[in-house]
Amino acid sequence: SKPKILITRSDYPKNSIEALESKYNVEIWDNVKNGDITKKDFVERVSGASGIFCCLNDRVDKDVIEAAGPSLKVVSTMSVGVDHVDLKTLKSKGVRLGYTPDVLTEATAELTVALLLATSRRLLESNQAIRNGEWTSAWAPLKWCGPALKGSTVGIYGYGRIGQSVARKLKAFEVSRILYGSAQEKPEGKAIGAIQTSLDNLLKESDFVIVTCALSDKTRGLFNKDKFAMMKSTAIFVNSSRGAVVDQDALHDALVSGQIRAAGLDVMTPEPLPSNHPLLSLQNCVILPHIGSATYQTRMLMADMVVKNITTALHGEEMPAEYAL
Ligand code: GLV
Ligand code: GLV
Repeated sequence: SKPKILITRSDYPKNSIEALESKYNVEIWDNVKNGDITKKDFVERVSGASGIFCCLNDRVDKDVIEAAGPSLKVVSTMSVGVDHVDLKTLKSKGVRLGYTPDVLTEATAELTVALLLATSRRLLESNQAIRNGEWTSAWAPLKWCGPALKGSTVGIYGYGRIGQSVARKLKAFEVSRILYGSAQEKPEGKAIGAIQTSLDNLLKESDFVIVTCALSDKTRGLFNKDKFAMMKSTAIFVNSSRGAVVDQDALHDALVSGQIRAAGLDVMTPEPLPSNHPLLSLQNCVILPHIGSATYQTRMLMADMVVKNITTALHGEEMPAEYAL
């Protein structure tokens, strides 16, 4: 009989679901009708699966992997981040992991730049002011001003594919310096003209602090009270990686006290963020619902890659994007 594939959502791109339906015994969780799959349902439905098509909402933990049983050959996530997956257990069971790097790099970098500009130029705050009837003088010399990108120092923490793409894009804005926080100098840094430095130095010198690192044991909670205290009082903090790299209470305090000027977040904890969350009441905090990779083109390419990662892995072939466990 055909191998079973569990698909954790019914709203993944149609082509990708159909491609799997044509080859496999597919079980689809109807999230449109039932909401996101719960851990209990995930554990129940995954039994006997050879492959799992999932995304970052779905915690693929030890219980899920064990519930799948020995049939499980591949977990294929529609994301570049793999922090929702128990890598150790996968490795110990010889299960392969597919993910979707590269195809989302430019979209995520574009969104990061958009978030940086939305935050620095106060786009949401000023738009809301119009809706509130607060646009009373056609033009006001010092109202709704923000800091310029041109001539600024930008610090990028997490200088991988996305961080480097952000750096390339920001060069067009004529920033004066791009710093990247990294233990070692990277060849890609030199090519772009970016300067390697320590995280602490990056925080002290940057007008814009951009976080594009992966979430790991090393980066969890990294941006805490001490780190915000090192930043300039005029600094703008932008995060498009994972919410858990930030101590969010410390960020909230830093925004309220004026320790830093503003923050732009595409990621936070928890997601979805409750609509009454304190961060949402701050004028100097721009919050987006985790849309870094959300271009039509990229989401289609990601879904295609998820399918190819599954089909190749089940044939024992090289996968388009296998995460090294
Ligand atoms: C999005 O956050 C991703 O990991 O693809
Ligand atoms: C980067 O663009 C630099 O000039 O340092």
